[in-house]
Amino acid sequence: MPLSSSGTTLPPTITPQREAQASPISETSLALPRVIAHRGLSAHAPENTLAAVRAAHTAGCRWVELDVQQLGDGTPVIWHDAGVRRCSNGRGKLRHLDLAQAHQLDVGSWFSPAFRHERMATLDEMLALIVECDMGLNLELKISYRHSPAALAKAVVPRLLAALPPSRLLVSSFDRDALRTARDIETDPHRLRLGLLYDKLPKGWRADAENLLAYSIHLDWRKLKPAGASAVRDAGLRLLCYTANNPAVFRPCWAWGVDAVISDDPTCFTNALS
Ligand code: G3P
Ligand code: MG
Repeated sequence: MPLSSSGTTLPPTITPQREAQASPISETSLALPRVIAHRGLSAHAPENTLAAVRAAHTAGCRWVELDVQQLGDGTPVIWHDAGVRRCSNGRGKLRHLDLAQAHQLDVGSWFSPAFRHERMATLDEMLALIVECDMGLNLELKISYRHSPAALAKAVVPRLLAALPPSRLLVSSFDRDALRTARDIETDPHRLRLGLLYDKLPKGWRADAENLLAYSIHLDWRKLKPAGASAVRDAGLRLLCYTANNPAVFRPCWAWGVDAVISDDPTCFTNALS
């Protein structure tokens, strides 16, 4: 398996990994690559869109990180912000839109006129694409102001479990309540891997991880320290870092035990690693 458990060496490539065929599912069966495309291939396509995931697939990425929230009518959609202003031609809060209204938005032109036909992706549409592309998904349960963590997890997790095998799914969140609800829906940590998102490693991370039967810790790479990285790995957890776009500056973090990096432009890491 390409991921080193020692955390001290880095394979020279991010060669795609084969998923374990064995059953029951073992801890080693998660097909986590070294580099994950942040919000799809967001350096080259509008973030969190179907186009961004297709672009990631075309670029050779095995996994994408995406954000999910609910519209006002409860539909889970792939979206980062509380509002639609930054990444569409509309204004207002996501929680004030229903699906028909959300689908009227042009969510591509803000990035480039070449993406003017892009529409906000529902979770169901995105999962169909991920399955079609045979990719892995790190889905972030994104909790905006006045959104319910439990409602989001209840709407999202059953869909994920029905669509993707455990080896190609990692659910993460900054929100403990969202992760708690997710764990209550699927109590087997090998059938639903959970990742705890922090900016820097807080004092209570071990208790959080134990309570949630977490698989991984996801940290802002700029705040990562060698001792923290070692502690995470020594606790038997995987360590992911976001959002790094300069492989040369990021390089020391590999030696500290980072398992995977989440990047807007994974191809620059691919080139650097190979
Ligand atoms: O999941 C890692 C990263 O996506 C967390 O931050 O704001 O880009 O969703 P953000
Ligand atoms: Mg995210």
